[in-house]
Order: sequence, then structure tokens, then C-alpha cells
Amino acid sequence: MPLQTANWEPNKEMPVGKGATVQQFFTVLGKDRFEISVAPWGEGQLKVNGQEVARTAEAKDRRQAFTTLKQAAERYARGEPLEMSKNGKARLIPTVKAKLLDGKKGLVVGIANEQSIAWGCAAAFRAFGADLAVTYLNDKAKKHVDPLARALESPIVMPLDARVPGQMEAVFERITKEWGKLDFVVHSIAFAPQQALHGRVVDVPLDGFLTTMHVSCWTFLRMAQLAEPLMKKGGTLFTMTYYGSRTVVKNYNIMGVAKAALESAVRYVSAELGPKGIRVHAISPGPLATRAASGIPEFDKLLEKAKAKAPARSLVSIEDVGAATAFLAHDVARLITGDTIYIDGGYHVVD
Ligand SMILES: NC(=O)c1ccc[n+]([C@@H]2O[C@H](COP(=O)([O-])OP(=O)(O)OC[C@H]3O[C@@H](n4cnc5c(N)ncnc54)[C@H](O)[C@@H]3O)[C@@H](O)[C@H]2O)c1
Repeated sequence: MPLQTANWEPNKEMPVGKGATVQQFFTVLGKDRFEISVAPWGEGQLKVNGQEVARTAEAKDRRQAFTTLKQAAERYARGEPLEMSKNGKARLIPTVKAKLLDGKKGLVVGIANEQSIAWGCAAAFRAFGADLAVTYLNDKAKKHVDPLARALESPIVMPLDARVPGQMEAVFERITKEWGKLDFVVHSIAFAPQQALHGRVVDVPLDGFLTTMHVSCWTFLRMAQLAEPLMKKGGTLFTMTYYGSRTVVKNYNIMGVAKAALESAVRYVSAELGPKGIRVHAISPGPLATRAASGIPEFDKLLEKAKAKAPARSLVSIEDVGAATAFLAHDVARLITGDTIYIDGGYHVVD
């Protein structure tokens, strides 16, 4: 029987239908078991006998990803080469067996594009079944964020520039009105004006210092304050930090000072909100080539060093950060709080 007419069966152990995130289908041809996993935002993976043979990341939705991968499966069955096989650039699709965060509601702040750490987190949270509110910086950013918000099936998509008074409050008001609760917040934003970031720490002007601290640190405190009344049954607050907070990393400069303050804020907030069942984490990923990172001179060297020295001998991906962050939002992680959690292949213990 040619594969074209083969019947693709849904994997009954995984949720299907509306609201389901990653879906899986399989078929058997001769001795080979073909398996396709597809996510609503158009990522997908084809495995034959458990081995990945093709991926797609560019489809516009789940249906198109499935069609692309079905065609790849047909070519594979005919013995033809698969040009998109092992496409290193495609993101790993989060494949989940259970919707462990089903019913949870979260706010993700900091998605600028598909490279953003916040997007890696949002994709993982959604794969585990959480509903997400997302924000975009301004009209310019909106066109990049909108398709991602659609992929996440986000019911709340709002502008949030920390420097525009009232925007953060408006987001929390909408969440209060629509959900009346919040289970987690991902704060994944940072900013330093060029002049402040590129100069010596000792020379930083007051306005550059205040802007850096305002956007990169104070916003986390304010989000925690606004989230507190919505987390009546507990919750989890996340912020993104970097290793340059605890040691001098060339070119990280004033951002290192801001991250040190942020990590301290995490400790204090965890002590203050812990009795209410609210956990607080600073997530510290290894270097990732994102838009924010492109503002740091010689960032390539940081990547090379991280890869060469990290015990895991590997750079991290936004999917790695997303999966670990989603784990910390689950009840199984309920007694972990207040600390800086490194997702960096172990780099911080050797450098
Ligand atoms: N990329 C890395 O290597 C790395 C490593 C560790 C930690 N981090 C941290 O991760 C977080 C996310 O950065 P990223 O690397 O994903 O880059 P990114 O550029 O994708 O995200 C940065 C986000 O900050 C937002 N932002 C900037 N100014 C803002 C403001 N005034 N109001 C609201 N939002 C604002 C941007 O819109 C953007 O969405 C940052 O806190 C960053 O310091 C990054």
C-alpha cells in the first residue's frame, strides 16, 4: 500500500481537538512506524521508528504543518531525499504527553519575535495547556508579535511599554476582568540606553542608570505587586537574569548591576509572598542570540566561550529555557523558590 492512502491515526494518549496544543498522528507502512507531531503555531516533526527525519517551523498553522510533513513522509517512503531533514534552524516542537498546566492562566511579557526567550517560555507553557495573555512593546513590535499571539491562541494581547504610565495597570485590569486570577507571570524584559550600556559602570549617568533600573528591575517589582491579589491560590513569578550579575562579564556593564538588583529583588519578594504560596524565580539562561543580545558588543565571543567551557558543551536554546520554566510553574516544584536557577549547561560552575 502506498503511503499516500495510508490512514493517519491520532495518538489517543494525547489530547486532540480544539484547545489541544501539540497533536500526534501515526501510521504504519510495512515495518516502519511514521509519526507526525504538530503544534498550532505551525511547527512540526516527522519521526520514522522514533528517529526524527524531518521538521518544519514555517507553516502558518497546524494543518499546513501536517500537510508538509505528510508529503515528506511520502517522499521518505519512496526513498527520496528529504531536503528539510535535520534543519538545524527549526525549533524543537514541545511534545507533551499530558497537559500538566491545563486551566492555568499566565501573563508573558517580553515577546519581541521568534528568537525571544519569552516566546520559548510561552510556547512551552501553551504546549502544557496554559492560557496566556501576551504583550507587545508598541505598534512597531505588534506585527511581529501578533502572529505569535495567534499561534498561542492568546485571548489577551495588549501593548505594554514599561515607560508609558498606565499600560501595565491596564493589562492587569483586563486580566482581573476576564480571568479574575493569575497563576504565573513571566517577566522577560530588560533595557539600557546605549550610552549607559556601552560605557564603564563607573561613568554611568544618572538618567541612564535610572532607565536601566526602571525597565529591567522595578517593572518586576511592580508586576509582582499587581499579580499578588490575583494569585489567591498561589502562583509563580519568573524573571530573566544573566550570569553577569555575579561576576564581571566583559561588555555586560550596567546591565550586570541591574541583574544583581533583580536577583536580590527575587529573594526579598519570595520571602514576602512565600507565605501566600507565591513562588519567585530568577531564571538565568546561558547566552542566546536574541535582539536584546545584539546590543552587547562581541556577543559572538560570549557564545563561543559558553559552548567551549560549559560542562554540557552546548549552548542553550529558548526551548530549553521554556521547558525548565514551565516545570517550575507546576505544583511538583512547589517548594522551590527565591533563587537564581541557571539554565546554562553548567557554565556558571566552571568559569
Ligand atoms: N539573550 C541572552 O543571552 C540572555 C541571557 C540571559 C538573560 N537574558 C534576559 O532575558 C530577557 C529577555 O531578553 P531576550 O534575550 O529574549 O531579548 P528580546 O529582545 O527578545 O526581549 C527583550 C524584551 O524586552 C522588551 N522591552 C524593552 N524595553 C521595554 C519597555 N520599556 N517596556 C516593555 N518591554 C520592554 C522588548 O520589547 C523585548 O520584548 C531580558 O531580561 C534579558 O536580559 C537574555
